[in-house]
Amino acid sequence: MAGLFITFEGGDGSGKSTQSGLLTAWLQGQGRTVLASREPGGTDLGLELRNIVLHRRGHITPRAEALLYAADRAQHIATKVRPALARGEIVLQDRYLDSSVAYQGAGRILDPNEVRGLSIWASEGLLPDLTILLDLDADLGRGRLSERTQYDRLEDEEHEFHARVRAAYLDLAAAEPERFLVLPATDSIESLASAIRERVAGLL
Ligand code: TYD
Repeated sequence: MAGLFITFEGGDGSGKSTQSGLLTAWLQGQGRTVLASREPGGTDLGLELRNIVLHRRGHITPRAEALLYAADRAQHIATKVRPALARGEIVLQDRYLDSSVAYQGAGRILDPNEVRGLSIWASEGLLPDLTILLDLDADLGRGRLSERTQYDRLEDEEHEFHARVRAAYLDLAAAEPERFLVLPATDSIESLASAIRERVAGLL
């Protein structure tokens, strides 16, 4: 059976991990083996990088930040994702290269093509078969996160940063409509889950 690489994208608090969990359970019920993972932090090295890039106090330059995410990605794709795909498994991943283009490209204002190119280099050219974008107004997402307590460098950015991220995601989806499924994150959990299942069923 061929492997399938599905990524979830969207702003902070858009419900990616909830939907990934529901899809995992459904796919397992269909008899498929699922690797559910995430970036940053899907490997031991990645957990250390995640801690630096999300929680370190003090300035990290935009390029250094982009390279930290790329390093996390290189390790994760080579050691976990590609081997799982080669075994015919389905990989469900919270965040991938579109996060870098949206957050480091549009958010930090780096050249989006260069940021994308860096990810392509890091992953040796692995693109998702399907990307589910849970589209959410930036302020709504941040409201959902307000009860979290740990300092987070990216969540702490101002409204304009998150508005640029959202717009960049929608541009990416418009540019590759066959790869993206865009859903309003404010829909009910069950209606999102069923729209996602329907699309994924067509790929099995
Ligand atoms: P995380 O805590 O994993 O949660 P959530 O996906 O629920 O927001 O947050 C990861 C953060 O890292 C998030 O703010 C987006 C950011 N990020 C980037 O800026 N670039 C990237 O390439 C990736 C993978 C994540």
